[in-house]
Amino acid sequence: MQIHTTIQSLRTARAAANGKVALVPTMGNLHDGHIALMRQAAGHADSIVASIFVNRLQFGPRDDFDRYPRTFKDDCERLEAAGVAHLFAPDEGEMYPQPQQYHVDPAPAHVTILEGEFRPGHFRGVATVVLKLLNIVRPDVALFGKKDYQQLMVLTNMVRELAVAVEVVPGETIRATDGLALSSRNGYLSAEERAEAPRLYRELARIRDAVRGGDRDFLKLETEATAGLAAHGWHPDYVAVRRRSDLQPPGHADDPLVVLAAAKLGHTRLIDNLEI
Ligand code: PAJ
Repeated sequence: MQIHTTIQSLRTARAAANGKVALVPTMGNLHDGHIALMRQAAGHADSIVASIFVNRLQFGPRDDFDRYPRTFKDDCERLEAAGVAHLFAPDEGEMYPQPQQYHVDPAPAHVTILEGEFRPGHFRGVATVVLKLLNIVRPDVALFGKKDYQQLMVLTNMVRELAVAVEVVPGETIRATDGLALSSRNGYLSAEERAEAPRLYRELARIRDAVRGGDRDFLKLETEATAGLAAHGWHPDYVAVRRRSDLQPPGHADDPLVVLAAAKLGHTRLIDNLEI
């Protein structure tokens, strides 16, 4: 695997690549969810480019940018083993040599809801860095996980509306055997919190199963799940049944749905979702 820390070096390698190229952007601290995306990428392209960049633009002032886990050496080993050809790992000075003044502003309707309500500016930072990464790497295919469902929706719409020449491919959420979605932030959990954490998945699964069974009282289901979490020490931000396409409240009875949740357990904020 070649490691590129400059845009120039990555571009030179890109120009020499034969066949289709897939990009898998990450912020590092790689787990099996990231690696599953790399392996899936191999089915869509002849060579895989991964990126590792902890993007300050998408962190709020009170978010965990400074303590976000950085495990570069382990990450490189995992990427190499997954067959990644090129790693783009710029430092901040390379990506943002001066404060970024041009940004991608996603549709307000897409970023004032759910995660966007609790993390103002987050998706603007995500969209801006991802467009920049797409412009640097110019991949044929880019893969993003459903774990970050709203991020996937925002990026899919960005690519379509700005006519970016890339195919966005979603990856399924990879979970621990007890249901907890893998996340770099799981490492913040104490042993006790880690044992409690799968409740988020179980509450989502309960809603999914109830809706599949014909229950359309979404408000009741959301309220019960919120109360179930709160009763066990969580601080839920939202539990919401939404239509998959734009994450707005369900309209027609045949809208494909997804249930999404975010909640704090101790100091750690976890998000998860399940398609219904
Ligand atoms: P990061 O949190 O490192 O995630 C990188 C990619 O891995 C994202 O597409 C995310 O949805 C996916 N992913 C994370 N956990 C997963 C899991 N358990 N199963 C499947 N896929 C999973 O998301 C970001 O970084 C950043 O916002 C980024 C897109 C890189 C822009 O900075």
